[in-house]
Amino acid sequence: MPRTRNMIDSETRLIALLGWPVTHSASPQFQNAALKVMSVNTLYLAFGVPPEQLGDALRGLRALGALGANCTIPHKEAAFALCDWCAPEARVIEAVNTVRFHEGRMLGYNTDCYGIAAALAEEGVGFHDARVVVLGAGGAARAIVAQAMLDGATHLTLVNRTVRRGEQLVLHLLEHCRQLDTQACTHPLPQCQVIGYDEIKPALADADILINATSVGMRAEDPLLFDATFLNPRTFVYDTIYNPPQTRLLIEAKQNGCAKTANGLGMLLHQGARALEIWFERAAPLELMRKELLQPRLLRRV
Ligand SMILES: NC(=O)c1ccc[n+]([C@@H]2O[C@H](COP(=O)([O-])OP(=O)(O)OC[C@H]3O[C@@H](n4cnc5c(N)ncnc54)[C@H](OP(=O)(O)O)[C@@H]3O)[C@@H](O)[C@H]2O)c1
Repeated sequence: MPRTRNMIDSETRLIALLGWPVTHSASPQFQNAALKVMSVNTLYLAFGVPPEQLGDALRGLRALGALGANCTIPHKEAAFALCDWCAPEARVIEAVNTVRFHEGRMLGYNTDCYGIAAALAEEGVGFHDARVVVLGAGGAARAIVAQAMLDGATHLTLVNRTVRRGEQLVLHLLEHCRQLDTQACTHPLPQCQVIGYDEIKPALADADILINATSVGMRAEDPLLFDATFLNPRTFVYDTIYNPPQTRLLIEAKQNGCAKTANGLGMLLHQGARALEIWFERAAPLELMRKELLQPRLLRRV
């Protein structure tokens, strides 16, 4: 019997989202909407996988013949170590958010760096010539810092709870990010500093762009990591968190005069579209995915 379009059958393939937690994610909704219009007989499902089981989960997906996986908080750095091969950007960033299972191999990619650059561009903002402050030193921050370096930020301040982790990240990327410099940019790498939250005030005073790449803000009760009165009203404040859509950071930034703020939906959209292009080697239906993401039912307070 010929397969009916979008019917689940014995040939349906799986793409898995692995995270811990994962219930906040909007990826299953917008990825399944895209898969449907692409008519590719593939389902995108989310799985809560604790860190110690990530290896079993990825190897199990490969054994099941899954097409691919996305890895989200806190798995991106561990996923990098588990892949058989990684694309140049993932090798430099040392974090993988997109896995393709191909001919028995686990191939790793990082689409977060593309995602943040595309999201900022849509807001009319870019890293070029900017003074940038990034909060966090995990998988998302690694991609954002690498992109800021490549795109010509002049000053980069990384703020992290564990300062040593931030220092290792910045030293590694200063040494390696030129390997990604496909456009042969001639700009110098930014002046970098790594600090704790108790030293953030002067960095915020003259920041052009502030990006939260920590997980703080995902829960309504999460505190703000610094005093919001330190913010400069002309700073563009970007929170990679998109659920809840208005984090405490975004709310307090507006209350303190920051006219331009955005949540992480744009980054989510663009990293997800690029991941689809890796799995299927064809263009993703970007505008349909954007429309799906903007459905009010999709996001909730968690
Ligand atoms: N919009 C998007 O497309 C997109 C894409 C990727 C990620 N994200 C978001 O980015 C965030 C980080 O994800 P990730 O994968 O990078 O996670 P991760 O690797 O687990 O890193 C988490 C970071 O948050 C910091 N942190 C956690 N709890 C903290 C606390 N109580 N106080 C201060 N800092 C704290 C950690 O600091 P330590 O180093 O000190 O532990 C670390 O730097 C998540 O909210 C995720 O949803 C969004």
